[in-house]
Amino acid sequence: MTVSLPDAPWWASAVVYQVYPRSFADSDGDGIGDLRGIASKLDHLELLGVDVIWLSPVYPSPQDDAGYDISDYQGIDPTFGTLDDFDALLADVHARGMKLVMDLVVNHTSDEHPWFVESRSSQDHPKRDWYWWRPAREGMEAGQPGAEPTNWGSAFSGSAWQHDEVTGEYYLHLFSRKQPDLNWENPEVREALYAMMRWWLDRGVDGFRMDVINFISKDMAADGSLPDGDVPDGGLFGNGRPHFTCGPRIHEFLQEMHREVFAGRRSGLLTVGEMPGVTVDDAILFTDPARAEVDMVFQFEHVELDHGADKWDVRPLRLTDLKKSFGRWQLGLADVGWNSLYWDNHDAPRAVSRFGDDGEFRERSATMLATVLHLHRGTPYVYQGEELGMTGAHFERIDQYRDIESLNHFAEALEHGRATEESLLEALRASSRDNSRTPVQWDATENAGFTTGEPWIAVNPNYPEINAAEQHDNPSSVFHFYRSLITLRHAEPAVALGDFTMLMPDDEAVYAFLRRHGQTELLVLGNFSPEPRPVLISDTAAWTGAQLVLCNIDSGAVTDDSSLPELQPWEARVYRRQVG
Ligand code: NOJ
Repeated sequence: MTVSLPDAPWWASAVVYQVYPRSFADSDGDGIGDLRGIASKLDHLELLGVDVIWLSPVYPSPQDDAGYDISDYQGIDPTFGTLDDFDALLADVHARGMKLVMDLVVNHTSDEHPWFVESRSSQDHPKRDWYWWRPAREGMEAGQPGAEPTNWGSAFSGSAWQHDEVTGEYYLHLFSRKQPDLNWENPEVREALYAMMRWWLDRGVDGFRMDVINFISKDMAADGSLPDGDVPDGGLFGNGRPHFTCGPRIHEFLQEMHREVFAGRRSGLLTVGEMPGVTVDDAILFTDPARAEVDMVFQFEHVELDHGADKWDVRPLRLTDLKKSFGRWQLGLADVGWNSLYWDNHDAPRAVSRFGDDGEFRERSATMLATVLHLHRGTPYVYQGEELGMTGAHFERIDQYRDIESLNHFAEALEHGRATEESLLEALRASSRDNSRTPVQWDATENAGFTTGEPWIAVNPNYPEINAAEQHDNPSSVFHFYRSLITLRHAEPAVALGDFTMLMPDDEAVYAFLRRHGQTELLVLGNFSPEPRPVLISDTAAWTGAQLVLCNIDSGAVTDDSSLPELQPWEARVYRRQVG
């Protein structure tokens, strides 16, 4: 049962579940997940107890970036089904008391979107200015190396500018060349996007997860030019990020969007902005309810702490860095604004393989990571398969990869002699987005019960051991542990609303913190190491007789000798006590 929390937003006690449709469940045997497949698995989500489903893109798309390249905002890609399938899914989700949030990808469209097709057709087409068209760099001939309007690199390798033969100009694409950036400076663009958003809300969806929404305002000079970025040592391109991350008009645009799309609508909607590079100070502004921008942001600091020069250069995570980062976000958004909490998504390798131990201690490290995350203040997001303790793909060969970012990086680094094939494959094994995109493992039948056809990306061969069917029947499974965590958030106001205090900030193995709400205090402990570790907090006696609310192994009750038992490898515990 969910307790009602007066004055608190409903999402404080809610948990969101991300469905990445291509890999969720395939109903028609074409090897790609679809809407009917999702509908067939709602029992699983209902049993898990999540409140909101966030659906990654299902719109018509050439699938250059797995659906984040949209060619029609108001339809469903035939691979995924039809609008009728969508309406049926939405109705079923609602009938089960859950909400459904769409992915909103409006920093860019596909180059096959009719808006772009028109825009590219001639320099004086009325839609020309809907995208970022610019001539070659002054004094240079279009198409020549270095003639791009700025030196920015794209997130998917290569220049962020594509020379277009038809009109001799360049268009900006921060992602693939098939994802041209929309020009939010043009009010017609904004109005068209707001109309599209209203259309989905009128259809009954419960909000949007907004893709790279803090990139929509670019740092444009009065003459329309964009600045070059600094070129890192040995880099091929300039870093444009400072010139489009939380740009000059971002708050104005989001406030306008709020007014035009959300104001005056029913309560119970959710808006979450995916915002790479956002700082705590920015996030306070974005999520302060009084400013009416978005409800919460997705930030990336904690999932970049193990990066060296870039995401392909992975270092071991220092737990003290993680504590500093989470601690700062908890404190920064303590009074105003709200955090999203996540480990996994379709853009990140799975946390159990990255920060935990996906071998001997897979279940224990998966549940420890979940405990630490879900007990923070904020709204937790579960990415499909995380609730089963699914592990990274760890592919061996380049032909197993499907992700454009991974494939382009591999090709570019080889072409420029930056790395050997072997070292690149090792980097992809650790960091590729495909690590988390393998099909959900439903049961122990062929292809993990995901499809009767040939899966679009290989199924992880560990599905006979790790699958939903086995875990549904196993009360000590990762799945049932996630259920308990979700139930706890629903029932315990201290989880949803409690103040946060970090303990043991300098310890490299134990993550410990308090949550306090009214007379209730929770102590959360997680051992991020394969060794037993002591709990070194000042007031252990206060926890004598405390209730052990949750534990991922059968140990850990506080005895009456006034000490907290040491934590076993990857152990997590949550205690509750009443205070004076
Ligand atoms: C963020 C999305 O999560 C990612 O999958 C996508 O590639 C980029 N934005 C571009 O849309």
